[in-house]
Amino acid sequence: MPQTNLDFITFSSDCVSRVEKALSICLPPETIEPQSLHQAMRYATFNGGKRVRPLLVYASGLACGGQLETLDACACAVELIHSYSLVHDDLPAMDNDDLRRGKPTCHKAYDEATAVLVGDALQALAFEILAKPATSISSETQLQMIQILANTSGSRGMAGGQAMDINGVGQDMSLPELEIMHIHKTGALIHASVQLGALSAGGNPEQVARLEHFAKAIGLAFQVQDDILDITADTHTLGKTQGKDAADNKPSYPALLGLDGARQKAQELLNEALDVLSHFDASARHLRQLADYVVGRTH
Ligand code: IPE
Ligand code: IPE
Ligand code: MG
Ligand code: MG
Ligand code: MG
Repeated sequence: MPQTNLDFITFSSDCVSRVEKALSICLPPETIEPQSLHQAMRYATFNGGKRVRPLLVYASGLACGGQLETLDACACAVELIHSYSLVHDDLPAMDNDDLRRGKPTCHKAYDEATAVLVGDALQALAFEILAKPATSISSETQLQMIQILANTSGSRGMAGGQAMDINGVGQDMSLPELEIMHIHKTGALIHASVQLGALSAGGNPEQVARLEHFAKAIGLAFQVQDDILDITADTHTLGKTQGKDAADNKPSYPALLGLDGARQKAQELLNEALDVLSHFDASARHLRQLADYVVGRTH
């Protein structure tokens, strides 16, 4: 196995264990009332996600000279927002999906009302964690991080992108319109993950600005690859129903550019992201590896 692969596998498995342990501590125990809601919150969070957003928090923090211990809260917060967004994304009123991460979607395993409440509760918990007094981060920086997460999750970020997605069903979208939609629905939370990692690690303004450029490119690349995999991967590997975008008439990169065009776009965005990282030293290597993974992943 090449050294870089082993290095990345070690980093990512360590960080996945870290964030899952931290998530397990911050989620309310299943034995506490209302038990069904607390069980469903854990069901929606611990179901085999890749944890790309927490990995981005950790890798961005390390690139700015930070320590993993100071990054756990942000890693949990972004994964909770992401898990909530998936639960709502799968609801019949949105994408109406039965399968998520290889298991029945939350509303299938429980019911729709519970799934709505799981999303509400995971979102609130994300902000509770971010607002917890921390010794390693100033209150001013914490406030800034809360603002960033609120902004990127809300109507001018992820939720806004989801609205564009729903409104775009069956519509002819131009490439710039599609890009705006993807930057909002997926890019925004990826942007927040990188920013929060950099800020909680005490990154300087130049590092933060460069990483924001990196995040913009890799956030869009992430959704371009998600669109590609919807066509090229099988349901078992994906852990979600294959071919759903075309079946639902969703605007997507392959629909507009063809598969080769979409692949080329993902590669261009990866090159742009890696170019930005050339300004960082070896401490940014996990971020480089993660960027490669985002575009090269098979699910
Ligand atoms: C899927 O995200 C939804 C998008 C924003 C494209 P991921 O591919 O990160 O899903 P999990 O968390 O690994 O299941
Ligand atoms: C989901 O995009 C984006 C968010 C959840 C915010 P998709 O609808 O393409 O995600 P999948 O393919 O269902 O994971
Ligand atoms: Mg969707
Ligand atoms: Mg979906
Ligand atoms: Mg998709």
